[in-house]
This record gives sequence, structure tokens and C-alpha cells, in this order.
Amino acid sequence: MIKLYRFGRPFATEAVVEALAPQPAETLPYFSVQNDGCGFSCELGKETAVYGLGEAIRGMNKRGWIYKSNCADDPSHTEGKHSLYGAHNFLLIAREKPFGVFFDYPGELIFDIGYTEMNTLQVSTKEANLDVYIIDGDGLEDIVRQFRRLIGRSYIAPKWAFGYGQSRWSYYSEDEVREVVRQHRENHIPLDMVYLDIDYMERYKDFTVNKKTFPQFQEFVQEMRQQNIHLVPIIDAGVKIEKDYSVYEEGVQNGYFCKKADGSPFVGAVWPGKSHFPDFLNQKVREWFGKKYAFLLRQGIDGFWNDMNEPAVFYSEDGLKNTFSELKKLEGQNLDMDKVNHFRGLVNDLSNNPEDYKSFYHNCDGKMVRHDKVHNLYGYNMTRAAGEVFEKLEPDKRILMFSRSSYIGMHRFGGIWTGDNCSWWRHLLLEIQMMPSLNMCGFLYAGADIGGFGDDTTADLLLRWTAFGIFTPLMRNHSALGTRKQEAYRFPEAMPALKKLIGIRYALLPYLYSEYMKAALRGNLYFRPLAFVYPQDKQAAEVEDQLMLGDELMLVPVYTQNASGRTVYLPEDMKLVQMRSVSDFTVETMEKGYHYVPAALDEVVFFIRSDRLIPLSYGGECVSQVDFNHLRLLGNVQTAATYQYYNDDGSSKDYENPAHFAEITMSADSRVSAKGDMCLQLESAL
Ligand code: NOJ
Repeated sequence: MIKLYRFGRPFATEAVVEALAPQPAETLPYFSVQNDGCGFSCELGKETAVYGLGEAIRGMNKRGWIYKSNCADDPSHTEGKHSLYGAHNFLLIAREKPFGVFFDYPGELIFDIGYTEMNTLQVSTKEANLDVYIIDGDGLEDIVRQFRRLIGRSYIAPKWAFGYGQSRWSYYSEDEVREVVRQHRENHIPLDMVYLDIDYMERYKDFTVNKKTFPQFQEFVQEMRQQNIHLVPIIDAGVKIEKDYSVYEEGVQNGYFCKKADGSPFVGAVWPGKSHFPDFLNQKVREWFGKKYAFLLRQGIDGFWNDMNEPAVFYSEDGLKNTFSELKKLEGQNLDMDKVNHFRGLVNDLSNNPEDYKSFYHNCDGKMVRHDKVHNLYGYNMTRAAGEVFEKLEPDKRILMFSRSSYIGMHRFGGIWTGDNCSWWRHLLLEIQMMPSLNMCGFLYAGADIGGFGDDTTADLLLRWTAFGIFTPLMRNHSALGTRKQEAYRFPEAMPALKKLIGIRYALLPYLYSEYMKAALRGNLYFRPLAFVYPQDKQAAEVEDQLMLGDELMLVPVYTQNASGRTVYLPEDMKLVQMRSVSDFTVETMEKGYHYVPAALDEVVFFIRSDRLIPLSYGGECVSQVDFNHLRLLGNVQTAATYQYYNDDGSSKDYENPAHFAEITMSADSRVSAKGDMCLQLESAL
């Protein structure tokens, strides 16, 4: 049961798709309201866990910290931070009678979850204009399902985008991309995507291609397609200010950029230097910008990643002017500590300065809305711009899309990657912990930069990260300019194992894709914390480094350096699978309780629950080589197991067709059968 409580006059974020009649605000349950509707507090029992918040730092249970919904271009994802790139204001309060709450508020919002007072949740906004949705239900998963129905179906990527992708900031030329592909193909490392970072463009201008380094782009896209590679270019939010650059010219002529109070377009710098920022909150602008993607679609491109859309602003024109004049005053002085700090502050505060976000406006149906009040909607609406136009241009074709910044609602138009993590073991754990929270907020097509983006990776970190990454819907190895190159083939000692691990991804694809589709179509979680599956088990509730995938698997990733295994907690008897390749694995039944499980660097280790089975393919070096109808079954069958298998063509949008489902059954003596319209050939592997 979902109820809406409206405070003041909220901005229409369009995060939700179901219209509910608002209840009187003063009847809001669970919370006491302070500050005329800008503060909400709720007592938490000592042991009440709090889940949600999507893209955020720290663990799955969000208690014990203060989080700020304020989409931030900040590459330093350390524990002391409060914001990352997304704003996902949904919480699940896991009391005995749990409830969910969504604060639909597009400006800065603070979640103090036991930080100021250990047993109190305090939520505060700057203005008392917001919608609060309270969701009561029959357990945590039911509440998530209701919430996901409220916010609409999650984005569904094309099947090929469930393959493995290689990225780097940047591959500078066609030849460099060819070499990356050649290395993968010759070494038989599966690959489906190569991502093009900002250097494919002409001087970082959106919807241009550098003619010197990518001279035959359209032919090149085709050449790659013949090798089963999809090129996925980046699109940035800022539009370069440059005379005769059509995107700039059209934007200025039509008044499509965000404006300052005096009516002139706001100037901020990003990669191309001084830029304007499209007013994505305006429907006309969305349509205009969305249509620009057709420049690349026409050349055979069928996937994109949207970046820098918090929006990131390196400096504003006004901010830079002020900084120079302040710095001048320091010239020739003997700088003591205070002055050095002042000096540093002047320079550091140039980027993503809150004052800049207060200095420009959006035109929302003729009403000028100051950016900071709706800041968290910018990336969402950039991605929506593309999604809405794709729907018109290609109504029955799935286009790959994922974004850096997001708000709930954007999950209908694209996935997300978790931005500029680092090649740190701690960030592998952060990803493990973030995935279920993202799913709760509707973001299913998600993943982190495997191997880490900033800093230098190591072979062992890359192996461990890949061993977890094979389970994330978005599986991409990406790294930053200036860091150690981290394509699998750069590590001769680790390459044989990396190749096999990635191969396991392709073997698992029938299962992973089926689970993804069921999660999207039914509002289920793809990844779940153990607490959701074993709510009565106190030990399970505290496990923050294992994940349930679907109804079948429990993942136990290794995320510490020099570890030859790890301790795991089994909430029930399960079967351990130690997999080196799809034809080389061992299984062992283990009893409920704690165990030390050895996990070599070249192994994926996971558990299958009792009376469950998963379908596996025979593998492939790209998704189109994977046979989704000729399956092997890996089961832990004590009596009998049934799996509901979903498969479709992976490119059209006929998702709901019942013919896409089949019931696969396996009995204890390994007899297998399938019911449904699909032509399945089954074989049991165990
Ligand atoms: C920031 C993004 O987070 C990163 O992935 C990308 O490589 C750089 N921008 C350069 O485009």
C-alpha cells in the first residue's frame, strides 16, 4: 500500500509514473515533521537496519552516517564523503513491520541516519516543497516491488550489452581501437563492446567525430560490427562555445541553454573549455538534444554513455574572474598557513561551486527555476532526452544507454556506471555493497569500472574484480588517462585466468540475462542483501560482503589483497561451486554456518541454494555466439528443482510475451525437462 503526502508545492520531477491522490500532510505516519515541513524525524529501534539510497558510500545498512543527495562530480569516493554522482532518495526501514519511504525532492536533501543521534533518522530539505511516499508491505521485497511499480519499469539494455566491454580514457584512433579488438580476438578474450571516451570527438565537441583520428567513422563502425564489436561513444553535458559549431549555434539561437538572471547563457568550462549547458529540464530542449544522437545512430552506433552530467563545471566564467582578482591580492605577500589555505581554497573552490549552481536557471514551462533547487534532475533529464527520442526514432530497437549522474526516474531511460572509482580493494567492496541498493532504486543495468578507474591497478585486483564483475549486468573494464593500462592482455601472467573468468560470464549469460529480465519485468531485485532472503537470521542480516543473485545463487567475492580464500556465512545448507572455466569446476555441499572457502586467483567461487538450478550456455567470444536455447544445467537438486527461464531476441521490445518464458525442471537423478513454447535443448552438467 503506497500513500502520498504532499508538502507545499513540489516540483514535478516525474520520478513516479502512477498518480496518487495526496493525503493530508499532517497525517504522515512514522515521522514527526519539523521546520514547517523541511525536517522529518523517525525513531529507529537499536537494531533496525536502514537500506536504500542507491548510489552512496559505505555499507548496505546505511545506519551510522550522514548522506547528502547532491549529485557531485567528485572522484574521491572515500568513507568521509557524503555524496556521489546520483541522488536516490528511497529508504527501507527494516523494523519488525518494515516500511519504505521516498522523498521526491530534486534539491539538496540530507539523510542523517543515526549520525547525530544514534537511534534517529533525520531527513532535511532546504524547502518544504516535496512529495513523501510511504510504502507499507509484506516484507522488504514486497515494499521494493511496490516502489518499483510506482516508479515504472527499469531500463532494459540490448542483449549484446550484457557482454564484456573494454574501455580506456582514451583510445585515440581507429588503429588503437583495432589493436584492442585484435588483442582480444587473437587471445580469445571474449568482447562485445569498446567504449570511445572524449578523444573520438573533434576537440571534445558533442556529436562530432575527429576526422584525423577516426577518418572513416561510419565504415569503421561497420568494420567493428563485422567483428561483433559495438562501439559505444561518450556524450558530455557541456556544449563547447564555438562559432559555427552547429550544436552551439542552434542552442544559442533558440535559447536552449541554461541562463543567468540577466538572460545570458551561463558559461562554465568542461573538457572543451568554455561551454553552455543545455536546459534538459525543458521538454523542447530535450527533444532538440535527443535528436542530436541521430548523428551517431545514422553511422551505425547503437549505444552511448552520458557523462559529466551532474553537471560538472570546472570553473564558471564569473568564478574564474573573481578568483584571479583575489589571487592578485596575494601576489608578493609572505603567505602564512592561513593565506596558503586561502590560496588553495580559491583554486579548489572553482570546480562545481555551489554558488555557480545558484547562478543559472531552467525554463520549466515558462517559469524560471534556479538550478540548485532542481540540481539532482540534470543528469536524469539528459539521459531522458536521449531515451525519449530513441523511443520515437527506434520504437522497437533497444539502444544501450547509461549515465553517470542520475535521479530516480532515470532508471526508466538508462543504466548507470558508478563513476570514477579507484584501483583500490576497498572500492571493489564498495561496488559489492552498492549493487543491491541501486537495484532497490530501480537501477538494474549497473556496474563499476572493473579494475578501478583512478590509480594503477594490479593483476590480482583485476582478477578478483573481474571475478565479481562477471555477475554485474554492466561489465566494463575502464581506466583513467595516465594510469597503468589495464586491458586483460596487458597482464601476460594473469591473462589466461582473466580470459577464462570472462568466458564464465558468457557461459552464465542465459541465467544472468533471464534474471535481469525477470527483475526488470517484475520489479524484483537482481542482487539482494542476505537480510532480505533470511529475515529471521540475525547473522545473515549482518553479512555485508556476500550477495544473493536471483533466487538461486549466493556470491562470495574475494575483495582483499593476498587472500587465498575467505570466510563465508551460509544461512542454510548450500552447494559450493569453484569454477575455473565452464568445463572445469568442483562442487561441494556445505552446511549452514561459517566456513573458510579457498578461492584461487583464477577461480570464481559461489554457492547454489538447495533445490535450485541455473541454466548455462556453452560460451562464446561475443553474445551473438552464445546459444541461449542449448543449455547445460548446473543444479543443487535434493528432490527436484524448477527454474523459470526467460529468453528473447535481445533487441526488440516485445518483453511481456509469455512465449519468452519456459519452466525448466531437473530431478534428483538429473532428468531434465522444459515446459513452454521455447525450443530448448537441455543437458544437465552435474
Ligand atoms: C569522467 C568519467 O567519469 C570517466 O569515466 C571518463 O573517462 C572521463 N570523464 C573522461 O571522459
